[in-house]
Amino acid sequence: MQGEKAQREHWGTRFGFLMAAAGSAVGLGNIWRFPYLTGENGGSAFIIIYLICILVVGLSIMVAEFTVGRRTSLAAVGAYKSQNRNWTFAGVLGVLSAFFIMGFYPVVGGWSLAYMLKSVTGLLAAPEAIGDVFGAFISAPIEPLVWTLLYMLLNVVIVARGVSAGIEKASSVLMPTLFVLLVIIIFKGLSLAGATAGLTYLFKPDWSQVSGATVLAALGQSFFTLSLGMGCMITYGSYLKKDENIPSNAVTVVSLDTLVAIMAGLAMFPAMFAFGLEPDAGPGLVFVVVPAIFAHMGAIGPLMSIIFFAALTIAALTSSMSLLEVVVAYLIDERNMDRKPATWLTAGVMTVLCTLSSLSMGALSGVTLFGVGFFDLFDILTDKIFLGIGGMLLAIFVGWFMKKEDLRNEITNDGTLTFGLFEVWYNIIKYVIPVAIFIVAVMGIIDIPQRGLMLFGLAIIAVLMAFSKKL
Ligand code: TRP
Repeated sequence: MQGEKAQREHWGTRFGFLMAAAGSAVGLGNIWRFPYLTGENGGSAFIIIYLICILVVGLSIMVAEFTVGRRTSLAAVGAYKSQNRNWTFAGVLGVLSAFFIMGFYPVVGGWSLAYMLKSVTGLLAAPEAIGDVFGAFISAPIEPLVWTLLYMLLNVVIVARGVSAGIEKASSVLMPTLFVLLVIIIFKGLSLAGATAGLTYLFKPDWSQVSGATVLAALGQSFFTLSLGMGCMITYGSYLKKDENIPSNAVTVVSLDTLVAIMAGLAMFPAMFAFGLEPDAGPGLVFVVVPAIFAHMGAIGPLMSIIFFAALTIAALTSSMSLLEVVVAYLIDERNMDRKPATWLTAGVMTVLCTLSSLSMGALSGVTLFGVGFFDLFDILTDKIFLGIGGMLLAIFVGWFMKKEDLRNEITNDGTLTFGLFEVWYNIIKYVIPVAIFIVAVMGIIDIPQRGLMLFGLAIIAVLMAFSKKL
């Protein structure tokens, strides 16, 4: 529909929307990052703090993002801009965050895709070499890039088809599949002798391991895993029909995300302890320790391994689709582009960033900015700075710059629903979250080894803010 404004797309069904939103939330954050953060931060004590962050901060912000999106019927930039031009920068920061996350996320997605194949081509035959194989694979110049490209192509094909026919349809098939695959792995893991040590680790808190950094990690993780702080859920909310119950949908999405994170823990830790492997292997946990588990399983190992990496790929795919959609929706809403060219263009730019990230594991490992390579640069800039500040900006915007009655009307579908916790939610958004994130952000800037990078991130935000009206 060239020229005139096409009718806004909507989700076809509630189930479809829930699968798409849960698909965005459930991703590498749950299966790749959550288990290793738990492993590094002392098991269940970390999980408890993480759950508190999810319940108080995460859930409230998700309700706020859905509300802003549906109220304005616009993606991140337009949503802010249509209310107040001084705030356009907060939306643009979201689009920028989408580019940066998509500058490393598809690289890991590509690894996962590759590991499906490697599961049956000899990786598991030499358990002692698994770590070296991973190191050699990710630092090679061409092979991981080819997988990243393939992974990116899957995203493009789906997002180019549109909200309902692409994202929703794919998520409605992929998410239930992911669930079944995880259940299979969990049953296998729990059936192993010695698995209970892993359960103890997951569910019995060791408070001695908790520090300020633990809280920072838990808060950052709660934003990342719920796809918050960069307009992703604003964009998904903008396709939501007016008769949908926002709070109850948010509770479902948050519950599903938390469930899958716990399931990922259950899929890994019992088996890990059963085979005497250490849980604190860091980011390599999924690609090094998990294949080692399957190598110990004998004949069924390769099959289990394919299932696991298929699950990981599916989880990643439904998330990166949402990140791509944030930029595509911006180009459609604000730049009047058609969906197909917008998708290809955006994915093209993201692929360039991914190339830098992938090469930073090998050929470009000498090239650093603020002491880190491209992969870590994009990761730290978003996870440690942009998402938290993006969430804080959203809370300030909603709490202080939107009309309370408008919010109440939007959340209660013009009074047809009751939302008993409205006042509680409103005060959390208006007062608790801005203050809490400010404190955590300051702690983070003091704490973090890459202080230059922190300041660089803040400078980007300041510049965007100064030019907000021109954006
Ligand atoms: N939530 C996804 C994960 O856990 C990643 C993701 C998708 C994301 N969209 C996002 C993270 C928006 C931050 C913001 O893997």
